[in-house]
Amino acid sequence: MTRIIAPSILSADFGKLNHDIDMINDSKAEWFHVDVMDGVFVPNISFGFPVMNALKKRAKKTLDVHLMIVEPERYINAFAEAGANNLTVHIEASTHLHRTLNEIRKQGMKAGVAINPHTPVSLLSDILQEADLVCLMSVNPGFGGQKFIEKTIEKTQKLREMIDKQNLNTLIEIDGGVSLDNASTLFNAGAHVLVAGNTVFSASDPQSMIERLLHVG
Ligand code: DX5
Ligand code: ZN
Repeated sequence: MTRIIAPSILSADFGKLNHDIDMINDSKAEWFHVDVMDGVFVPNISFGFPVMNALKKRAKKTLDVHLMIVEPERYINAFAEAGANNLTVHIEASTHLHRTLNEIRKQGMKAGVAINPHTPVSLLSDILQEADLVCLMSVNPGFGGQKFIEKTIEKTQKLREMIDKQNLNTLIEIDGGVSLDNASTLFNAGAHVLVAGNTVFSASDPQSMIERLLHVG
């Protein structure tokens, strides 16, 4: 089964961003997770197009962009041009999610839908076909380094059943508080992609941490 580690650039050292990008380029991670926050949908502001441009120039792997912004449909084209390979919008921020996901695909990107910890996976049943990936938030979005919400494990299993029942290939991504303590349980529950910010970037050897997360039991 697919296993992907997606280090979150939010936890990188922006004073030496190129160094951190190269570290991921040379690691076993397949994706860069890129958290864009607008200070409205979430109580924090992260970064936007200048950082996307730096990534586009130097990163050699999939750019997995997670939009924590209101009205994400306004920026689909801009992120396509900025080099996003995957573009994920929140169900809680998208009034016309079906249209938005289709537009993301039309612009050549993989379409993702993210759900907050309070949102049940059952709300996804009529939209799964339009999504290439579902991002289950395992913390309340806005900040790196938060504690993993255990309920996510049950949500992962449920979502996996829904996807299998519909015979789809939708990827399940888990975002927030991922560590060596829960990585194995999450993969075994049916997750394909684990985002890891703090766990990777605060490790004394980030590249070996990526390998350890990938090869947990
Ligand atoms: C939270 C972000 C996450 C975050 C993960 O709002 O969406 O991607 O960077 O960071 P950790 O792994 O430190 O919880
Ligand atoms: Zn994220």
